[in-house]
Amino acid sequence: MSGIKSSGEKRLVLVSGRAHPQLAIDIAAELGSDLVPTDARTFANGELYARYDESVRGCDAFVIQSHTAPINEWLMEQLIMVDALKRASAKRITVVAPFYPYARQDKKGRGREPISARLVADLFKTAGADRIMSVDLHAAQIQGFFDGPVDHLFAMPVLLKHFKDKLDPATLTVVSPDMGRVRVADIWSDKLGAPLAIIHKRRDPLVPNQVSVHEIIGPVEGRVCLLVDDLIDTGRTIVKAAEALKAAGAIGVVVAATHAVFSDPATELLQSEFIDEVVVTDTLPLPAEKTWDRLTILPIAPLLARAIHEVFEDGSVTSMFDGAA
Ligand code: R5P
Repeated sequence: MSGIKSSGEKRLVLVSGRAHPQLAIDIAAELGSDLVPTDARTFANGELYARYDESVRGCDAFVIQSHTAPINEWLMEQLIMVDALKRASAKRITVVAPFYPYARQDKKGRGREPISARLVADLFKTAGADRIMSVDLHAAQIQGFFDGPVDHLFAMPVLLKHFKDKLDPATLTVVSPDMGRVRVADIWSDKLGAPLAIIHKRRDPLVPNQVSVHEIIGPVEGRVCLLVDDLIDTGRTIVKAAEALKAAGAIGVVVAATHAVFSDPATELLQSEFIDEVVVTDTLPLPAEKTWDRLTILPIAPLLARAIHEVFEDGSVTSMFDGAA
């Protein structure tokens, strides 16, 4: 039967939502498997529907979805797919959400705000998910929102490999574009043997996506700065940071980010003269019109496929990262 692989008594089933089919195809190819054909539809009034074309009874299922815009639609589709698996007697269901939806709403910054990242975890659980797999969660504590195993993968090894031979530690500074990324940037700085700088970024709590840079702490003058972030949304954080670094005497600015959300006007802003290169992974789909010559997109499928293999075989996901986290 296509899409189903046997390993002893277990059966691995890969299914995909419609947000980023290429990523699921790439993961399946890495695993030497196929995706189970799925009938996914949107009705005239916007309601979604999904049905698997083959039996999934007793299987170890991985539901792959990429939470790009329209994010609510793709989240709902994944929930429906999990529900369909549960009702079709899948033995274990793993939600594969490389970019965790609503991850930035992980705490109450002000009174009367929601904690939507927690709500998403509850929705996955209610739908029937046994576990979640994600890449570079905006905040590691999101793992605790889900009452079950969460495989938190890191894109750092993928991104580091790209930069390792290109950047000279003698002239390099790793830069965290805000306080929230300091811990991750610190690990990058250790791995690359380069010093760390931190940008003090301010946001207007009343205006979404507006950013201003206040202060840079650390050595940037006469140095190539590697800005590392988990995600680029409108691009304002990164562009403001690059501008400030250049104004402070940086001789070059390169950017590494895991999730290329690239809401408008990111594509335009990121082509700024202050930025030499932007490197991202393909956790989210990027149409041709959102790419340009100084953008590099690295494949995340090998990392996800390896993690799926480890989970399926009861191996070790932690061993994949060799202390990278
Ligand atoms: C912030 O905490 C995140 O790590 C990103 O820096 C931010 O969400 C990116 O948003 P934008 O590209 O719209 O500035």
